[in-house]
This record gives sequence, structure tokens and C-alpha cells, in this order.
Amino acid sequence: MEFQDKHILITGGSSGIGKALLAEFIERGCRNLAIVGRDQEKLEAVAGEYRDAEILTLQGDVAQVEDLNRIVTVLSEKWGVLDILVNNAGVVSAGLLENMSDEDIISQVNINVTGVLLLTRKCLPLLQKSKGGALIGVSSGLGYIANPFYSVYAATKAAVRQFSDAMRRELHQYPIHVMTIYPTATDTPMMTNAAVDNMDDPAMVARESIDGLVMGKINVIFGGEQRLDDIRTNFLDPLKMDEKSISRYEELKERTAKHRAM
Ligand SMILES: NC(=O)c1ccc[n+]([C@@H]2O[C@H](COP(=O)([O-])OP(=O)(O)OC[C@H]3O[C@@H](n4cnc5c(N)ncnc54)[C@H](OP(=O)(O)O)[C@@H]3O)[C@@H](O)[C@H]2O)c1
Repeated sequence: MEFQDKHILITGGSSGIGKALLAEFIERGCRNLAIVGRDQEKLEAVAGEYRDAEILTLQGDVAQVEDLNRIVTVLSEKWGVLDILVNNAGVVSAGLLENMSDEDIISQVNINVTGVLLLTRKCLPLLQKSKGGALIGVSSGLGYIANPFYSVYAATKAAVRQFSDAMRRELHQYPIHVMTIYPTATDTPMMTNAAVDNMDDPAMVARESIDGLVMGKINVIFGGEQRLDDIRTNFLDPLKMDEKSISRYEELKERTAKHRAM
């Protein structure tokens, strides 16, 4: 896939993995990009870092239908086509389900899932005009293997995985490649309070993800061979993964106690 003439929309393009994907697409020659986020100043600061590309900054909350409608109207008027949609914006709130506020449950679902479904549906008429496009979802290792204290987040990320599979099968007659990225712990603002060592570099995640896109991969899974083994075990013998998780229960509880990025 060549990127020079592509029109690319990245939600959450103002930080972390989304920002790294933006930089990587620009590095590979893309000149027409749009980024979505709730904080306009953050969007403008990021757009100002790249002089070689035209970056539309589209302030909006992916959980708000009217914001999504406005974003798609702007893209429709300015571009008339969309080649690559990256549904990357996401939030996390960890902890025992019994301690989680209604607001954190609702926001995680609305931002991580409902926003993805709605924005994708609203972008479809533009994506279907592409002569070679992609729909990219950003799930998580937790979208395959659910850990305790991430019940809601893991559920949202599993939804992203299923949505991608369904859309790939639904869109087979269009030249739209559907791909899902499964990062493991990556060093971004989302992880500031997560107490994890040796995190992945977002630039590496972006580079390998776009390599995956170029190679036509449908899943780009981070975490190495161990993660792939664990995914197989989790599918074939979930009780074995339960044992693993139970043996680390207290450690996980402590590590995730302050993990909230909403
Ligand atoms: N970092 C990790 O370890 C990790 C691991 C697995 C999966 N992921 C996934 O990777 C994706 C990116 O995460 P990250 O680590 O790069 O997070 P991040 O650094 O916190 O960035 C999140 C981005 O999403 C935007 N955003 C959040 N809520 C939004 C909303 N309601 N509407 C529009 N934009 C919104 C943020 O901008 P505003 O705050 O200005 O809205 C920001 O640009 C997420 O889907 C996350 O679940 C991350």
C-alpha cells in the first residue's frame, strides 16, 4: 500500500499510539491527515509539529453523536473520500467491578465501543469511495485475554476485535483492508498511573502496525511469542489462564490500583 495520496483519519491522534501512527504515516509520505480529540489545544500542538503534511484538527468527543456527525461532514466537504480510518481513541479505568463508578463504566463503553461503531458507520460512504483503503481498530492484549481489574476495559477491547472480524467479512467486496492492532503495555500518557516496567515504545508499535498493514496482515499482536502462546491457551484451556491470573492476583491488584486515564 502506498500512502502518498491517501486520506487518513486517526481518532486520538493527539497523543500516544495515535500520535505515533500519525508520525509514521507522514514519514511514509502521507500528506492528508485528520486527527480527532476532545482537547483542541493538544490537537493543534501536534499538528504544528509536522510542516510537511496538511493535518486537519477536528475537535470532538467520539462518544457524542453530534460531534461525529460534524466530523464526517467536514471530511465529506474537504476530502469527499476517506482511505484509512484508524479507530484509536480510547480510555481506561481499572479496578474491581464492584468499586467502579457508573460513569466510568458508561464512558469506557461509549468511547471505546459505541464511538467506534458509530464513527465507522458514518464514515462508510466515504471509505467505500476509496480505491484502496483500510479500517483499522486498536484493541489491546486484553481484548484477547481478560485480566482481573480490567473487566470493563477488556470487554470493550474484545468488542473491537469482534467488530473488526465482522466488518472484514461484511466489506469483502470493497478494497478496504480491515486490520486490528493489539498493543501490550505501551509507554503513553494512558499508562502514567499503571505501574508497569519495560513498556513498548509507541513509535515501534506504530511502525510495526503500518508494516503489518503494508503486508496485508489482519491482526498485529504485540507481546511476542509468549503472548501468542497465552492467546492459544486462553482459547483452548481457559482454566489454565485462570490459574496464572490467580497466582498473580495480589500483584495485579496493587499494580492496577491507580490505573485510570479517562
Ligand atoms: N498504552 C497502552 O499500553 C495500550 C495498550 C493496549 C491498547 N491501547 C489502546 O491504544 C489506544 C491509544 O491509547 P494510548 O495509550 O495512545 O492513549 P493516550 O496517550 O491516553 O491517548 C488517547 C487519545 O485518545 C483521545 N481520546 C480519548 N477519549 C476521547 C474521546 N472521548 N473522543 C475523542 N478522542 C478521545 C485523547 O485525546 P483527548 O484526551 O484530548 O480527547 C488522546 O489523543 C487506546 O484505544 C487504548 O485503549 C493502549
